[in-house]
Amino acid sequence: MIPDNVVEEVRARADIVGIVGEFVQLKKAGKDFRGLSPFKDEKTPSFYVIPAKAFFHDFSSGESGDVFSFLMKHQGMSFVDAVKYVGARSGVDVREVRRGKKGDDPWRPYYEASAFAGSFFRERLWEWDGGKGAREYLEKRGIGREVGERFGIGYAPDEWEAFREAASVHGLDEGMLLELGLIKRSEGRDRPYDAFRNRIIFPIESVSGRVLAFGGRILGPAGKGAPKYLNSPESPIFHKGAVLYGLGWARNHIRRQGAALLVEGFMDAVSLAAVDIGNAVAPLGTSLTEEHARLLGNYTSQVRILFDSDPAGLRATFRAAKVLLAQGLRASVVTLPEGEDPDSVARSEGAEGVLGYVGQAVDVLDRQLAMLEERDYFATIEKTRDALDRLLPTLRAVQDARLRDIYITRVADRTGVRAETLEAELRKGAAPRLAQAPRRTPTPRRRPAPRFHGLGVDRLLILLLLKHRKWIDKAAERVGPSDLEDGVYRAIFEGLIDDPELQALPEGTMPEAVLHFERLMSDREVPSPAEAIFEDAVLQIENTALDRRLEVLDAEIARAGDVEKPRLIRDKQDLISKKKSRGPDWRRSARRAAGSPQYQGEGAP
Ligand code: UTP
Ligand code: MN
Repeated sequence: MIPDNVVEEVRARADIVGIVGEFVQLKKAGKDFRGLSPFKDEKTPSFYVIPAKAFFHDFSSGESGDVFSFLMKHQGMSFVDAVKYVGARSGVDVREVRRGKKGDDPWRPYYEASAFAGSFFRERLWEWDGGKGAREYLEKRGIGREVGERFGIGYAPDEWEAFREAASVHGLDEGMLLELGLIKRSEGRDRPYDAFRNRIIFPIESVSGRVLAFGGRILGPAGKGAPKYLNSPESPIFHKGAVLYGLGWARNHIRRQGAALLVEGFMDAVSLAAVDIGNAVAPLGTSLTEEHARLLGNYTSQVRILFDSDPAGLRATFRAAKVLLAQGLRASVVTLPEGEDPDSVARSEGAEGVLGYVGQAVDVLDRQLAMLEERDYFATIEKTRDALDRLLPTLRAVQDARLRDIYITRVADRTGVRAETLEAELRKGAAPRLAQAPRRTPTPRRRPAPRFHGLGVDRLLILLLLKHRKWIDKAAERVGPSDLEDGVYRAIFEGLIDDPELQALPEGTMPEAVLHFERLMSDREVPSPAEAIFEDAVLQIENTALDRRLEVLDAEIARAGDVEKPRLIRDKQDLISKKKSRGPDWRRSARRAAGSPQYQGEGAP
C-alpha cells in the first residue's frame, strides 16, 4: 500500500502528456493533445489528453481516466506499480507500506493521533452535556447534525487538560502531540495543556479523508489574545500550503459541475454544503499557493472566487486569480453584497441567492478592468499608465496561450495601448516603466540612474513597508511600482502589493531584487519616527513621479496634433492642480530626513 498523501502528490506532479506520450504519439490540439486511440484501431485520432484536468479520454473506446488508470489499462500495471512508475518520473519518492503492518509508514502514529483527536472532539460535541452550548451555536449558524457529521465537526471543551488526559490514557506519545500542536507548553504551567479550548473544531482532512490538522473557532466573539480561528501548526503530516479545506468532500461535485468555488473560510465551505452547494473549498487562512492551484487543477479548470467584496478581499481575489492563471486555470470573480460572505448569504438568501451571485461571476480580467474603471483609472492618459501597471502582472500570469491572446486584446481595447506594445512589455518580464512608453519622445530629463541601490527614498519606503506591512495598501493607493526609480525596488514593491505578507519574492523575479529583498528583510535599521518618514517618502516619490509625468506630457504636447492637444493639456492641468494640492512642501521633510542619523543607510553593495 502506498500512503494516500503520496499518491495524491504523485498525481498532482505528474506530467500526464509526457507519460502518455511515451506510448501514444500526441499532437497539440488547442489546450489539449490528440492522438490515435491506443485501445482501438482507428484512422482519425479521437484519443485526447487534457492536461488541465490531468485526464485522458478516448472517444472511440470510451476509456477515460487519470494517468494511473492509463497505465493500468494500457500497460496492464497494478495501481501500485502505476504510482511507482509515475512517481519515478515526477520526482516523488514512492515507498510502499505493507498493509496493516504498523511502523512501516513513519507518520502512521501521527495520523492515528489526529484521528483520535478528531473523534475525541466529535464525541464532546454530540454526546456530552458540556457540548450543549456548542451544539446550540452551530444550530444558530444553520449547521445541523447531518452536515456537522459530514465535516467531522467537533468541540474542544473549556478545560485545560481534557484532551491531554484522554490522549495519555489512550497511550499517545506526548512529544508527538506537541509536534501536532494539539498540546502546548508554556512557562507558567508545569505540564503541557490543550491547545484548543472552548472552540468549535473543524478537522482539516486530506483529499482521501485522513485527518491532518484542526481549525478551531472561538465560541462567540474573539477577544484579546484569543484569535477567532486557531489552526494547527505545520507538522510532518500537515502543510497548509498544500491542503484545501473541504476538497475531499467537494471534489466529486467539482468534477460534476465543471467548476470549483474558492471561499475564504471554514464556515463558508460548511454553510454552502448545508444548502447543498457542494463544490466549495477554502485555503487555510493563507494566500492561495501554487500547490493549491495544482491540486484544484486535478479536478477542474474553472475556479470561481467568492471572497469578501471589500478592498482587501478584492486584492486577495486578484492575487489568488494570478496563481490560478499561472497554473493554466481560468478564474472568475463573484461579487457579493457589501459586508457579506458566502456563509452569511447562504443563511439569509439560501442556495438560490448564492447561485444567483455565482451566475453573475465575471472573468478576473474583466473584474480588474471594472475595478480600475470604478476608480477612474481610464480618465486620463497618465492614469491609464497606472492602470497598465496593475494589469500587466495579470497578463503575465496567464499560461494558457489562447486565454492570453484574449486578455491582451481586451486590455488593448480598453486602454488604447497597441497589442504589440503590450506583448513587448510582457516579454520584458521585469516591472514595466510605462512612463517612458512613447518611444519617440525625446527622453525627458531624469535623475541619473542610481549607482548604488539603496541610497534613496525608494529603499527607505521599501524598508518601512517590510517592517510595517499594514502600510502597503496605504502606499499603493498613492504611488505605483513604476513611480519608483530603481528597478530592484520596483520589483519588490510589485511583489508586496501582490502579497503583503510576502516572505520571499516569487520565482522568476530578477535575481538582484531577490538578493536585495533578503538583505532588507534582515536589515535591523529602524527609521524613526517611522510614520512621519513614511509620509515623507511617499510624498517625495509622488512629487518626483508628478514632475516626470509633466515632462513627458510637455514633450507629448509639443508633438501632438490639434485633435489630441486639448486632451493632453487638460491632463497637464489636472496634474498641476494635483501637484498644488500636495500640501506642505515635501522638501522640508526630505531635509529633515537627510539630517537624521538613522538615514545614513549603509547603502547596499
Ligand atoms: P473570517 O474572519 O472572514 O471568518 O476569516 P469567517 O470565515 O467569516 O468566520 P465566521 O463567519 O466569523 O465564523 C476567514 C478565514 O481566515 C482564517 C480562517 O481560515 C477563516 O476561516 N482566519 C481568520 C484565521 O486563520 N485566524 C483568524 O483569527 C481569523
Ligand atoms: Mn463569516
